[in-house]
Amino acid sequence: MDTLAAPAGHAPATAVTVPPAARLRGELDVPGDKSISHRALMLALLAEGESRIRGAGDGADVRSTATVAAALGASVERAAGDGAGAGPNVDYRVVSPGDAGLRQPAATLDCGNSGTSLRLFAGILAGLPLTAVLDGDASLRRRPVARIIEPLRAMGATLEAHDHDSLPPVTVTGRRPLRPIDWTTPVPSAQVKSAILLAGLRAGGTTRVHERVATRDHSERMLRTRGVTVRSLPDGAGGTTIEIDGGTAVQAMEERVPGDPSAAAFWLVAAAVHPDAEIVVRNVGLNPTRRAGIDILTRMGARIEELPVAGGQAGDDDRGEPVADLRVRSSELEAVDIDPADVAAAIDEIPILCLAASQARGRTTIRGAGELRHKESDRLAGIAAGLGALGARIAIDGDDLTIDGPVRLIGAPTDSLDDHRLAMTFAVAGLIAGGRTTVGRPDSASISYPGFFTDLERIRA
Ligand code: S3P
Repeated sequence: MDTLAAPAGHAPATAVTVPPAARLRGELDVPGDKSISHRALMLALLAEGESRIRGAGDGADVRSTATVAAALGASVERAAGDGAGAGPNVDYRVVSPGDAGLRQPAATLDCGNSGTSLRLFAGILAGLPLTAVLDGDASLRRRPVARIIEPLRAMGATLEAHDHDSLPPVTVTGRRPLRPIDWTTPVPSAQVKSAILLAGLRAGGTTRVHERVATRDHSERMLRTRGVTVRSLPDGAGGTTIEIDGGTAVQAMEERVPGDPSAAAFWLVAAAVHPDAEIVVRNVGLNPTRRAGIDILTRMGARIEELPVAGGQAGDDDRGEPVADLRVRSSELEAVDIDPADVAAAIDEIPILCLAASQARGRTTIRGAGELRHKESDRLAGIAAGLGALGARIAIDGDDLTIDGPVRLIGAPTDSLDDHRLAMTFAVAGLIAGGRTTVGRPDSASISYPGFFTDLERIRA
């Protein structure tokens, strides 16, 4: 078992060069799903007793959540994964006194680069009788928090944040019981929904969250498998109302995390846009609220096959969610229209889908993508600058994008802006661009995908 100290430091690379690949072949495992890994650790903190999480992602974001859980009073042990399931991942053993026994943290809770850690922990802290400060790196300090402060205040918790309560650090003083609320989320955000549901666990009654556009539903599913009553009521027009009954104890359990579809998307696009490619990504989670990126690529004409996982059981993971091995081959892509609901459903895949669009015949439109400005970087500006430098024809008009293709990309310097998804997007572009593509600040990939550049070399072989 390992401690939770940061990995032994090496000097961060300022840039890597990604030469074009003659062909792409191979089978890969991707990291355990980041969203599920965060939630499994947080729910283990709230559950009294021992929880086991197998195959968790080992990116810096998930480590941030593990460190915060330990600071709040759980014993958190991390060990190399057993190799079954999704690849080079880690296993956690969490022993917690349960939320009634959690302790006042001695120091600021450092969420690093992770918006999910900060926003979901704010929801947890809102219902705990203590005061804590949530903070993070320079990128996290630029990410909006009014969207969680408002509903958690309405529930009776006390929250304060920098710059008129708009930016981290966030100080949370919890209260119990909280008041149940009916809340309509102003922007589609699984993080905001989840923060309210986690606070709703400790409310005296039923808390309701209305989403006009449905977002990933891991919190709902994972709370249910741990004994909490959560109802999801689709409104028939793409939205959902989620109800949670407060006052139930979260049960400890053992869970295996499937591979992350948002990490798999980089390889799906790499193979689809490369002229001589065949790649299999093993054990990818295909929760219906997470597969939009795959479905958009399929709509574009990507040749993606879903195969039963090797040695797996009937295509389901431990929680009854679908998983599959995905085989993808070189494809002739066509432009597509991506509407605001698609953007919400494929929010983390938009950067790599822009690369796919640059290789597709016709004009791709992406409407209502303004939320991308509030991610680990301003991703709209970052995509336009990076893919634009390689020759992609991308135009931004307000919150909308148009991308004309296909364009032959030519290697050039790009900058990840310290944003993991941009680093990986520009590196995949390098596989098909003529000449030398460099990716500035590539180490940011390890926020969600520590082995990314190793896997990039492996498929080139
Ligand atoms: C996440 C939700 C999304 C996503 C992020 C993970 C989650 O953020 O971009 O990578 O685990 O709930 P928003 O809910 O803010 O859109």
